[in-house]
Amino acid sequence: MKVYVTRKIPESGIKLLKDRGHEVQVSEKDGVLTEEELLSALSEKPYDAVLSLLTDKIDTKAFDAAPNAKIFANYAVGYNNIDIEEANKRGITVTNTPGILTNTVAEHTIALMLSITSRIAEGDRFTRAGKYDGWAPLLLLGTDLKDKTLGILGAGRIGQRVAHIASRGLGMKLCYYDVKQNREFESEYGAKFEVSVDSVLKVADVVTVHVPLLDSTKHLINKERLEMMKESAYLINSSRGPVIDESALVEVLRENKIKGAALDVFEDEPKLAEGLPECENVVITPHIASATEETRGKMSEMAAQNIIDFLEGKTPENKVV
Ligand code: DGY
Repeated sequence: MKVYVTRKIPESGIKLLKDRGHEVQVSEKDGVLTEEELLSALSEKPYDAVLSLLTDKIDTKAFDAAPNAKIFANYAVGYNNIDIEEANKRGITVTNTPGILTNTVAEHTIALMLSITSRIAEGDRFTRAGKYDGWAPLLLLGTDLKDKTLGILGAGRIGQRVAHIASRGLGMKLCYYDVKQNREFESEYGAKFEVSVDSVLKVADVVTVHVPLLDSTKHLINKERLEMMKESAYLINSSRGPVIDESALVEVLRENKIKGAALDVFEDEPKLAEGLPECENVVITPHIASATEETRGKMSEMAAQNIIDFLEGKTPENKVV
């Protein structure tokens, strides 16, 4: 069968597909395909399956361009880049890569949190710029995390793993809000369920966001909500950029209405909101929370296995629709 892969990914998944006898075409472009390039690539051959990335817009046009492809295997746990309703209507299977990246994303989230509260990135910039002229009692003072409250918005797999590391490793207290209350999670980590997003924002010293991007979570953290946070609090986001109103965040950071933020994702990637890079009280990484050699390799294999199973008539393990 013919499989199209929209960008170079770790070879292990490609090998799995080829070993099963599939003909695999990987995009030769060193970068994200534009919409036009994607549609033209998809219509080049009668592909039976597509391995897509979170940077590809998979909608009616893409489905039309590859009419034989009855599976789109997304190389990500998030699948907000795919029109799920349309896929469902057309009987197209969509899969994702959950689980294997949970710990990696959680570790990156903790790294972001430590980086902003211990002023790691700022200290690095300062030192490289030759500004360090000797130890000083008041130089770049940060914030301790032990006994502080971590507020988790979205206590799914990643949120829970962050909770584990933060409470067991750093001695933080936990509170959370999720559409589903999870009593097991509460008793395991002493996490306090808050009745709303607002109440988490009001009490937490660090807020970390782990919700999927849905219509209901777009701008979940808007100006009004940012202003509910303590002036001493930090905001961390390794989920999806549009969950936070990034321009509002820039305003709040500029006015020091919160202490800082650490972001791996942005509202309009790869662009950053105007003024964001100039804020000293923010740490930014380029959507690399799942980017370890181990995890990206496993994501490649999982996406490939979803395609293999589907093409062999089985239900892929990570079927979304
Ligand atoms: C995902 O899998 O959704 C991540 O954002 C990829 O890094």
